[in-house]
This record gives sequence, structure tokens and C-alpha cells, in this order.
Amino acid sequence: MYPGAGMSLGELLRTWRRRALLTQEQLAERAGLNVRTVRRLENDGLLRPRTTSVLLLARALDLDEAERAALNTAARSAAGAPVAGTDTGGPVVADPRPWTVPRQLPADVAAPGVREREAAFVTARGTQPVVFVTGMAGTGKTVLAVHAAHRLAPLFPDGQLFVDLHGHAQGAAPVEPGDALARVLRTLGVPAEHVPWHLDDRAALYRSVLAGRRLLIVLDDAAGEHQLDPLLPATPGCRVIVTSRHRLTCPGDARILSLDTLPLTEAVALFVRTAGCDPDAPPDALAEIVRRCGLLPLAIRLAAARLQAHPSWNACHLLDRLTTDRLAELVAGHQSVTGALNRSYERLPPDQRRAYRLLGSAPHPSFTLGTAAALLNTTVDRASRLLDPLLDAHLLQEPSPGRYRLHDLVHAHASTLRPPHGVRPSVRVRCRTASLT
Ligand SMILES: Nc1ncnc2c1ncn2[C@@H]1O[C@H](COP(=O)(O)OP(=O)(O)OP(=O)(O)O)[C@@H](O)[C@H]1O
Ligand SMILES: [Mg+2]
Repeated sequence: MYPGAGMSLGELLRTWRRRALLTQEQLAERAGLNVRTVRRLENDGLLRPRTTSVLLLARALDLDEAERAALNTAARSAAGAPVAGTDTGGPVVADPRPWTVPRQLPADVAAPGVREREAAFVTARGTQPVVFVTGMAGTGKTVLAVHAAHRLAPLFPDGQLFVDLHGHAQGAAPVEPGDALARVLRTLGVPAEHVPWHLDDRAALYRSVLAGRRLLIVLDDAAGEHQLDPLLPATPGCRVIVTSRHRLTCPGDARILSLDTLPLTEAVALFVRTAGCDPDAPPDALAEIVRRCGLLPLAIRLAAARLQAHPSWNACHLLDRLTTDRLAELVAGHQSVTGALNRSYERLPPDQRRAYRLLGSAPHPSFTLGTAAALLNTTVDRASRLLDPLLDAHLLQEPSPGRYRLHDLVHAHASTLRPPHGVRPSVRVRCRTASLT
């Protein structure tokens, strides 16, 4: 039995207002509502209470989840909807649409035998409701998240949401959190006209709608915390998988998976499977191909697509081509390694872009902080501060304190970008000769 079962909306509001030691005027002010609205609601004089009014009152009265659910039920009852005694969380809407269980997951394209341990980590049962998957462009974050979500789906009978936040989408800005919430609320049955205007109210309604439901939510390609915070549910019945190229500040109870490049055997398996190449292809050539792809799933997939698109090529011919100009080769249709890295680069602030381009002029992808400072023509302290956002964006790795490494393809990409404006060749030549080990 939920709190206040059997009481009308007005009775509930009156009881909880008195408990909070508020007058009707004070409650109205705290909720940002007209006092006449509060009076009419308490007198059960509004037959179709507005979603936002009820929501604002619940917040102003500081109701807990169970009380909000009770208020929700009473409001639906006032609106004429049938009331189920055990209903703990339908949307507070005057004219609710029938609940359609969302099944939004894209197809599962994960290759068998690839990223099995990582999938086990993401799907592990436990009390932590949020998993963050981070890693550089093309490491397979989305494929993994979708694969894990398909495995978990049977545990979430109220549906699966897939929200592409466009953190690094081609030609599209990151999705505004308010827009993402509005779309999700509509998916969850809230009519467009009942989606509140303010971001906080949308987020509060979202949490109310999720209360008591078991939903799996994939938040793909997040640009930053500002997108995620309003979309993280507050109730334990939901589970969330977040992917991002950025290291994000996660809620304390989140688990984090930093997705690296593939082990050699998995990389070869992925290539052979997707290229459908000759089983008699020389193993050394296959191993070298995936190494030339930096063991990066996106690059391996693109190399495989090149081979597939040219039936007259064999693995050795592809290897030759990858040895000449990798980045030019790793293109298929609208996808390319260069394009994927460009989208990380373009999201950087100007100082970090400049630093990235200068690091590309290093003759070796591994270097010390001192070398980085020389390349960037600055102090060690400032170099360290400039490198931090590149680490956060997974454009740079730090295998041990004070040592840095650019992934091979990132190094190749950075070196193709123009030298920063105003850097004199003499500075660049001097940097090139600095100790790099
Ligand atoms: N486990 C896998 N099995 C099969 N193919 C994979 C796997 N992981 C990645 N790939 C291939 O690599 C490509 C890139 O993967 P994905 O889009 O998941 O990378 P991402 O890390 O999400 O990249 P981005 O940072 O751009 O969002 C996929 O289109 C797919 O072809
Ligand atoms: Mg992705």
C-alpha cells in the first residue's frame, strides 16, 4: 500500500502542505504557482490538473519517490484515468497516451569472440546502475554498449532507450540536454504539450516517469557531463550505459570501462571475419595489417572493407597499400579514420588544437613531458596543463607518469595538420632534434 492510498489529490496536497508547515501562499510561492491554483487543487476543484503544476508542487513539498507516485496516481484519478492501486509511477498527464514499450536499440553487430571480457564487465549484475565506457575514436564503444544492452534487454521489461547525444557527430552539434529530455519524454508517453518548458522541470518529470519502471538506457557519444546529468535516472530500477570519447566525472556509484585497442588475436579475428578473406592468407601479413591499423576496430573494419571492395586484391597487396599511406587507405563510404579523428580535434579549444598539431611534428609517437614542453615551446608546467585535455579527449595516452604516447594513427593524423600559425621553422627544427625517448 502506498502512502496516502485512497486519498484524493486535494487531500494529499493539504496533508503534505501542513506537514511542511506551509500556508497555501507559501507553498504557491515556493512552487512558483498562483495561489488560486493551489487552493483549487486542494479543494479538488481542478478536474484536469496540469502535469507541470503537480510536478512543481511535488518538488516544493519535497516528496519522496513513494509520495510522488501516490500524488501521480491521485492526479491521474482526478484526470479521469483508471487508477491501479499498485501503480507507482505513470506519467502525470491529463491525457496519457497508451504506454508503448520502447525498443530502440540498433542492431547488434559485435563480432563473436571480440570484446567478450568487456561485454561481461558491462553486463555484470550488481547494484551499480551506471556504466561509463570511454575510449578514443573508433575503439568500439557504441558496438560494445549496444551488444551489452541486447544481452541485458530481457531484464528490462519496460523497454530500452537509445539516445544518440551526437558528441562527435559529423555535421551536427551535440544534442542539448533539454532536447534529449523532450524526445525521451515523448517516447515514454508524455504528450508534447505536457513536456515542461524548463530543463529542470523536464528532468524532474523524466525521473517521475521512470519511477517504478525497469528501463535500460543507452546514452551514446556524450560530449560532457552537462548532457548527462539530467538524463541519469534517480531510481534503482533503471540501468544506464554511457559511451563517450571523453573522460567524464562520473557519479560515485558508476563503474568505468576504459576501452583500449584490441589484443592482436582479437584484431586479426575481427579483420578475417569482416573481410571474409582467404583462410590461407599468410598469418604474418594479417598480423601486420591489423598492426598498421593500430589495432583500432574502426581502422580494421575499414581495411577489411577495402579488401572486400576489391576482389582482385589480396592481403599482401592491402598491406603494401597500408604501408604507403595508411590514413588515405582507411576510408570506406562516408567513414574514415581521418574523419573520426577530425571530429575529436575540432571539439578542442584553440590552445589544445595547436598543441595537438605541434605534437604531430614529433618524429616519434612516444615522448617525455620535457620533450612535449620543447615541442610546445613552453614550460613543463604549462605543457602538462595543455596536455591534460588531450588526455581527457583520448587523443593522448600517459603510459607512466611523465611519459606520453600518441596512438600511431593519431600521430599520423596530427602530423598531417598544418603547423600552427606563427611557429617559425627554426623552432620546429630545434624541437625535432630534441631528445624524444
Ligand atoms: N566488437 C566489435 N565487433 C565487430 N565490429 C566492431 C566491434 N567493435 C567495433 N567494431 C567496428 O568498428 C567500428 C567503430 O566502432 P564504434 O562505432 O563502436 O566505435 P566508437 O568507439 O563508438 O567510436 P566513436 O568514438 O566515433 O563513437 C564499427 O562500425 C564496427 O565496424
Ligand atoms: Mg560511438
